[in-house]
Amino acid sequence: MSLALIIPDRKLDDLRLRLANLLPDTHIEIWPQIAEPDMVDFAVVWKQPHGSLACMKNLKAIQCFGAGVDAILSDPVLPALPIARIVDPTLTDTMVRYLDGVVNYYRLRLDQFSAQQLQRVWKAKSPRKFSTISVLGLGELGAAVAQHFVQLGYSVHGWSRGRKALDNIVCHFGDDGLAAAVATADIVICLLPLTPATENRINTAFFQQLKEGAVFINVARGAIVDDDALLEALDSGQLQAACLDVFRQEPLPKHHPFWQHAGIMITPHVSAVTNVNTAVAQIAENYRRSMRGEMMLNLVDIKRGY
Ligand code: NDP
Ligand code: OXD
Repeated sequence: MSLALIIPDRKLDDLRLRLANLLPDTHIEIWPQIAEPDMVDFAVVWKQPHGSLACMKNLKAIQCFGAGVDAILSDPVLPALPIARIVDPTLTDTMVRYLDGVVNYYRLRLDQFSAQQLQRVWKAKSPRKFSTISVLGLGELGAAVAQHFVQLGYSVHGWSRGRKALDNIVCHFGDDGLAAAVATADIVICLLPLTPATENRINTAFFQQLKEGAVFINVARGAIVDDDALLEALDSGQLQAACLDVFRQEPLPKHHPFWQHAGIMITPHVSAVTNVNTAVAQIAENYRRSMRGEMMLNLVDIKRGY
């Protein structure tokens, strides 16, 4: 029996040590050095190479090392097993703080003052007057982000797949609810999962539904946004700025036009990185539960895709 960590391109010493402390009797292996794939019964994964799970014939469960499971589900030979994801108040808090910073960056016109500094221009301007924020996706992260901005005095609209009622948030749902969810927004924040229903959902038709001069922030997944439509919306003034933390291809290729665009701020997928300290307990608990044949915490609805 063993637990495998399949998390390419990340140092795993800390995670391995912490898991070993919580699961002293469990053999922990790190992909690609898995001596006996048939002995692995639990895999902790992030962007696993396709096929790497299929060869573990006795695998019982899959634990995603992050919140979004799109990369796991994209594996064409994914075994039909339960999948759990990370839901962690620390992760949520990290996302809220990141978005608070970004909203204030634009509110205080730091984008414009940075550009002015490069030109040695001294020109004072008062803060932008943002009053309404729309949050696309009202799940673990989106609902907390929406509540945060309500507390700061913003008028907040939210959009989800099913009907929702959240205090002080104007909730919209379903395909028919999207236009109203974003119509009055000064800032739109995307916190949707990437699924067949959300892929390219932020497209030309979407941007046309926004108020002219809105700011768009994507902290969800790059493939939810049509890149060309985003560039067109910025160039036409439909959007005044965009902050992008996630991209179709990561790292963002060097030749990609987003790098050069004056209206785009790029961060390298850092808005809420899984915290090993706080996430390790739920991973260990899910391991124990699957060994006992019990249901894991934070299960993904595989059919729904999130
Ligand atoms: P949840 O699964 O908790 O919430 C997803 C929300 O999106 C739900 O409100 C859901 O609606 C809504 N939704 C899903 N599909 C649709 C649809 N077709 N139309 C309208 N609404 C839809 O996810 P989290 O809040 O935990 O995370 C959201 C995403 O954020 C993750 O999937 C991940 O991709 C991304 N993420 C990015 C990070 C980063 O560092 N950049 C860090 C962590 C997460 P309903 O409530 O009706 O089900
Ligand atoms: C996640 C992420 O989904 O880091 O957790 O993007």
